[in-house]
Amino acid sequence: MSRVSTAEIRTPRLDLRRWTTDDRDVAAFFSIWGDPRVIWWGHCADHDAARTAIHRVTARCADDPALGWWALTERATGAIVGNACLQPAPIPIGEIELGWHLAFAHQGQGYGTEAARALLAHGFASGLRRLIAEVVPLNWPSIAIARKLGMKPVDVVERNGCGHVVFAIERARPVA
Ligand SMILES: CC(C)(COP(=O)(O)OP(=O)(O)OC[C@H]1O[C@@H](n2cnc3c(N)ncnc32)[C@H](O)[C@@H]1OP(=O)(O)O)[C@@H](O)C(=O)NCCC(=O)NCCS
Repeated sequence: MSRVSTAEIRTPRLDLRRWTTDDRDVAAFFSIWGDPRVIWWGHCADHDAARTAIHRVTARCADDPALGWWALTERATGAIVGNACLQPAPIPIGEIELGWHLAFAHQGQGYGTEAARALLAHGFASGLRRLIAEVVPLNWPSIAIARKLGMKPVDVVERNGCGHVVFAIERARPVA
């Protein structure tokens, strides 16, 4: 049986679509956000917490169709390997944050960079003017992604009880 793709955004290796709260998505979300090796600042305790988190982040992005949390599906296998998001930053208020989170087993294959590049392009094509990423100073893979996207360090903020470097990038030209 052929599978109908629900991808909203495609990269060379990944299909991106927004999370649902069906059981498969909740299990996949939990495999990322329930893993303290990935979400070291406060992982989900169980599937119920993961489902609640999906509801929460979906609601957070509901006011702007450019924003959202996207499941990253590896096209070759159909496996959900990560998450990427565009959402209102909790701090500084008014900024839009680009985020990336890869399941532990799928890190180190360039998927974080690939998904982040696609969401940056989607965000700017949707009219966003400026994107930020907030990264703790020793998170070398995240810093590498921010730099590869062309983001520059502009500030330091405290979040989840620790200092984060704010990386930022502005849209180069108006959307036609
Ligand atoms: C950050 C994260 C998404 C990176 O995803 P990934 O798919 O493994 O990243 P990539 O494979 O695209 O690699 C990103 C870069 O980090 C580099 N990198 C990886 N580990 C590194 C390390 N220990 N030191 C320095 N650079 C490192 C890679 O070499 C790559 O750069 P390159 O292409 O120039 O070689 C992943 O590590 C993760 O989910 N971490 C936990 C969640 C997290 O911290 N999210 C971000 C919060 S700000």
